[in-house]
Amino acid sequence: MYSPTFVCLLSSLALALANSNSPCADISSLVPFLRAYSSSKKDHFYTTNVSEMDNSAGVYSYEGESAFLWSTPQAGTIPLFRLYNQKFTDHFYTMASDEILEMINEGWTYDAAPNHTAGYVYPFSVCGAAPIYRLFNPTVVDHFYTMNIAESQVAVQDGYQEQGIAGFAILPSANGGIVDNSAVPYFLPSTIVASPEAQASATTSSSCVNNANATPLLRAYSSAGTDHFYTTNSIEMNAAAIAQDAYAFEGDATFLWSTQETSTVPLYRLYSKTATDHFYTIDANETNEALSLGYAFDTDSHIAGYVYPYSICGASPIYRLYSSSVLDHLYTMSQTESASTLGYVVEGIVGFALLPSIDGQPQTSTVSASPLLLPKSLEPTAASISGFPTTIAVYPPSSVVSSSSPTSNSASSTTPPILGAIVANAITSYRASGVFALVAVWIAL
Ligand SMILES: *[C@@H]1O[C@H](CO)[C@@H](O)[C@H](O)[C@H]1NC(C)=O
Ligand SMILES: *[C@@H]1O[C@H](CO)[C@@H](O)[C@H](O)[C@H]1NC(C)=O
Ligand SMILES: *[C@@H]1O[C@H](CO)[C@@H](O)[C@H](O)[C@H]1NC(C)=O
Repeated sequence: MYSPTFVCLLSSLALALANSNSPCADISSLVPFLRAYSSSKKDHFYTTNVSEMDNSAGVYSYEGESAFLWSTPQAGTIPLFRLYNQKFTDHFYTMASDEILEMINEGWTYDAAPNHTAGYVYPFSVCGAAPIYRLFNPTVVDHFYTMNIAESQVAVQDGYQEQGIAGFAILPSANGGIVDNSAVPYFLPSTIVASPEAQASATTSSSCVNNANATPLLRAYSSAGTDHFYTTNSIEMNAAAIAQDAYAFEGDATFLWSTQETSTVPLYRLYSKTATDHFYTIDANETNEALSLGYAFDTDSHIAGYVYPYSICGASPIYRLYSSSVLDHLYTMSQTESASTLGYVVEGIVGFALLPSIDGQPQTSTVSASPLLLPKSLEPTAASISGFPTTIAVYPPSSVVSSSSPTSNSASSTTPPILGAIVANAITSYRASGVFALVAVWIAL
């Protein structure tokens, strides 16, 4: 149905980009970010070093590959620093150099990792990368990192607090869940055919849509039909959904495009009368499956708008949730809403578009609404990406290197450490843009 357009789009994209200088990292050098957990230490531990993981086996249980990133510096990437707190037995990873100083003041130190780094990640959503979420449990003092929003949902129920995004890396699987040793980096829904190389290189400004043309996707909810409904058409929203069918307006869900632009794909819209459920997908197989299950296209165009199929150009994920008890699909860019909406399970990422607000929550005022964009200085262009590593994460001076090994750490902080009171620098504005929603947390011990 849309395959011919799409294949044509991507092959011309791949051709166009083959000749450009890619500001993306070399995807053939991706390595798995191995994850382990110690239930006695209540500590999540991550490394790209297989022997180090093997050596930890007495204390840590290997859990799988949690992301794909790089073990050496690459175009567009910045270091993900690694620290350890022996007293609290906590491994901590951050790309924010200001946060390092703060954590060192609170008793964390560098450990044995080369260059004090666990690996190299993108600082924002480019080149097919997706967010690594950071969570923190103040009771057991454990930082936890996952690309799986459903897993972060479970962690929140277990006492972890969301601390935003730790960096952008390549998904280990469709839903970001950990995988075993045979994993390959996951770039796209399997039905969307593009080589990883084409995806990875689709990041120069010429492959991005003009953000000024983005239009809000309006969101409404019918409690009678337990149905979330989305449209870019304000007349349809006001005259049909709200006035006739008693939907309640809930705000701008995301900003996407109403005509097909560079690098975007159609977001199909279907409706099931029996389930009273609107369903949106970029996946042709899912569209066919929905049609066979009694869904039908309910607009002439069949399309709700256009989104990026993967993570490029600073776009963020739109999550899809489903409630099998009330037969409703919910779409949101808010990790908090994904984690807290009772009865719904996260099904994955439906596409990538522009955030409506700092935390991805729908924006209720449509009068002057505009997408939330990264600060100009941090918008990903070929030039800014190649200059980025030195401007954002200044390599820590040797004077702050207080230890080279966890065993020589003598952290004995008697005051409760404060995490998250961040000093001003370049990354603070990035964090303030909501890419980090870092909360200040007192550790009470
Ligand atoms: C990997 O870990 C082993 C064991 O801890 C260590 O001897 C080796 O130096 C590490 N390799 C790198 C590249 O860090
Ligand atoms: C350590 O830093 C040096 C200098 O930036 C770099 O050449 C090297 O690749 C880095 N190695 C690792 C493992 O990060
Ligand atoms: C998608 O549909 C095509 C054609 O119907 C089929 O060959 C393919 O296996 C399907 N892929 C998935 C992942 O279901």
